[in-house]
Amino acid sequence: MAKIGVIGAGYVGIATAICFSYLGNDVVCADIVEEKIDKLNRGEMPILEEGMGELLSQGLAKGSLKFVMGAANAARQREFVFLCVPTPSTDTGTVDMSYIQKAAQEIAPVLEPGSIVVTKSTVPVGSTVFVQQFLARDDISVVSNPEFLKEGSALHDTLHPDRIVIGSSDTSAAMRIKELYKDIYAPVLITDSASAEVIKYASNAFLAAKISFANAVANLCEAVDADVKDVLLAMGYDRRIGFDFLRPGPGWGGSCFPKDTKALVCIGAEAGYEFALLKGIIAANREQLERVIEKINLALGGEMEGKTVALLGLTFKANTDDLRESPAIAVAEQLLLRNVVVQAYDPTVEDRSSMLSAGIQICSSAYEASKDAHLLVIMTEWGEFYKLDYNKVKELMMYPCIVDTRNLLDPDAVKRLGFSYVGMGRK
Ligand code: UGA
Repeated sequence: MAKIGVIGAGYVGIATAICFSYLGNDVVCADIVEEKIDKLNRGEMPILEEGMGELLSQGLAKGSLKFVMGAANAARQREFVFLCVPTPSTDTGTVDMSYIQKAAQEIAPVLEPGSIVVTKSTVPVGSTVFVQQFLARDDISVVSNPEFLKEGSALHDTLHPDRIVIGSSDTSAAMRIKELYKDIYAPVLITDSASAEVIKYASNAFLAAKISFANAVANLCEAVDADVKDVLLAMGYDRRIGFDFLRPGPGWGGSCFPKDTKALVCIGAEAGYEFALLKGIIAANREQLERVIEKINLALGGEMEGKTVALLGLTFKANTDDLRESPAIAVAEQLLLRNVVVQAYDPTVEDRSSMLSAGIQICSSAYEASKDAHLLVIMTEWGEFYKLDYNKVKELMMYPCIVDTRNLLDPDAVKRLGFSYVGMGRK
């Protein structure tokens, strides 16, 4: 049983703390938001993650998991301290390292000699070395161990990762981190810290590129009257391509891809490499959102002002309650700018209207959102939108018209009900 400290109780920190406790370790996790700490200590999850609540309760009951205020309190008498604090974008796209710096400086005086500090947050190349400098302790090793979990499946991804990456120039520290993962069945790659840091960014950038490629193929299909569903299915059967992350949509969002793609461009530029390909992918993602607005405009007959749109889904993807960098919010904001009435529904958004742009009317069901709408726009692929009674939706709407940015519905089925339907790259 190892003694582990986790700094930061966000998606990565909570998953790290809960999973290490589940794997039989003694874990203390810190944050700076008291309300969150209290909630977690009561066994309540502050984020929507399937299966995680149960393991949280188990850890608390066993006494192998606790949540405390302040980084230093999670670093005392610990053999390993994982930094899981935010690394947001600055206005220029570079990474704001202030949370990492603050955490490192706070824990430095209390760290046990010989303990290991691990960077799990996505940090620019060279950060592992910076953390060593912030700590200013030569009896502490710093190791990079990037996280690859997806929101909404954090528990599964943490316990069943595709690979574990450990980056350090200190081989014995790297081996001690490897030992922590001994009960997880996955290939372990030990490398230097800069390579580990690049692996994380390059993986996210590649996945973003793959989605943008699927979006571009969908756009091409629209131009040549082909069906993207068949095209991508057949492409996916090629094992070199695969089916994953090949679903067209309104463009990728969330707290990671937009931030990490921009950061990688900046990391390259600062080092003298112009990552033109990645710049193109970021631009393509912006254009994808514009295409969605244009589809909505056309579906509304080229006249948006004063129309009512039922917007289904506000989170950046299904099965999460995260609204950060959500394409749905970006679309809602564009519609509001054009004086469209936006009636939105999302299964996870009830009383968070304060987090949304003023003007988005939050409804308590998809049916309420559909009332008197000139158009229904599906922005997030929540399963419940697939199962709606579309006859009822049609009766509630002013006009039976759907823009489905996730290709969630069967076009023929809704057309049979009398809807006009616009998907992404559908015939
Ligand atoms: C992403 C990566 O998938 C994780 O591996 C990584 O650890 C994480 O970022 C991170 O850096 O912390 P996440 O942002 O939770 O995870 O969500 P994804 O499932 O990757 O989705 C990102 C965006 O791509 C969403 O807007 C989603 O709707 C979109 N997407 C995804 C598509 O449009 N099509 C797809 O086929 C897949």
